[in-house]
Amino acid sequence: MQISDSVGLVTGGASGLGEGTVRFMVERGAKVAVLDLPRSKGDALAKELGDDVTFVACDVTDPENVKGAVAEARERFGRLDFAVNCAGAGPGARMLDRQGNPHPLGLYRHIVELDLIGTFDVTRWAAAHMARNEPGDSGERGLIVNTASIAGYEGQIGQAAYSAAKGGVIAMTLPLARDLAAHGIRVMTICPGIMDTPAFGNVDDSLKQKLAEIHVFPKRLGTPADFGRLVGSFMENTLLNGEVVRLDAATRLAPR
Ligand SMILES: NC(=O)c1ccc[n+]([C@@H]2O[C@H](COP(=O)([O-])OP(=O)(O)OC[C@H]3O[C@@H](n4cnc5c(N)ncnc54)[C@H](O)[C@@H]3O)[C@@H](O)[C@H]2O)c1
Repeated sequence: MQISDSVGLVTGGASGLGEGTVRFMVERGAKVAVLDLPRSKGDALAKELGDDVTFVACDVTDPENVKGAVAEARERFGRLDFAVNCAGAGPGARMLDRQGNPHPLGLYRHIVELDLIGTFDVTRWAAAHMARNEPGDSGERGLIVNTASIAGYEGQIGQAAYSAAKGGVIAMTLPLARDLAAHGIRVMTICPGIMDTPAFGNVDDSLKQKLAEIHVFPKRLGTPADFGRLVGSFMENTLLNGEVVRLDAATRLAPR
C-alpha cells in the first residue's frame, strides 16, 4: 500500500505515538482522521496540520461512539485504507497493596476495556469499512496496526492488568489477520519499548536518561517518529501480516 494518497484513522492520534503516526503519514501525502477524546488536543493538531487532517471526538471505551466515529472518519475523506490503534494507557496497581487490600477490580476492568476491547472495537468497524474498498493491485483492501507493549510479554510489578490487556492485543494479531485475509486486510501489532511521549508526564531529563539505559542498543528512548516510521514500513511492505514487532532496542524488562 502506498502512503501517498492513502486515507486512514489513528486513535489516540492527538498525542505521543499516535501523533507521531499522524505527522509521519501526513508528511508523506496521506489524509488522516484523528480519533481521540474530546478534551485531547486533536482539534488543535488538525488545525495545525491543515486540510489533510480531521479530528473526530471519540472515546474508544464507548461502543456507540466508536461505531459512529469510524463511520465519520470514513465519510470525511471518502474512504479508509489504514487504521492505527494507539489510544491507551496503563495505570498500575499491585495485586495486594501495602495494607494487603486486593487490586481494585474496577481498575482491571477499565484497563482491559480501554487497551484491549477498545482496540478490538475500532478494529472491527475499521475492517467492516475497509472490506468495501476496491482492492489494489495485490488484492489489498486495508491495513490495521494495533499497539501492544513489551509489558504484554514481560509485565513488571504492578502491571497485571496492563499486561493482560496488551497480551490480548498480541494474541489476537494472528487470528485477526487470518479472519481478514479473505478480505485483503492485513493486521500487524507493534510492541513499543520505552518511548518518550507525554504518557510519561513531567519526568526530568536525568530520569529519562536512566530509563534509556534499559534499552540495549541504541541507548536512547524511542520516539513517536520511530513509531510512525514503523507503521509506514508496514504500509509499504505487503508481505508483513499477522506479526508482532517489538520496537524496543533489544530490551527485556526486569521485574521492576
Ligand atoms: N510511551 C510508552 O513508553 C509506551 C510503551 C509501550 C506501549 N505504549 C502504548 O502506546 C499507546 C500510546 O501511548 P503514548 O505513550 O503515545 O500515550 P499518550 O498518553 O501520549 O497518548 C495516548 C492518547 O490516547 C488517548 N486516549 C486515552 N484514552 C482514550 C479513550 N478512551 N478514547 C480515545 N482516546 C483515548 C489520549 O487522549 C492520548 O491522546 C498506548 O496504548 C500505550 O499503552 C506506550
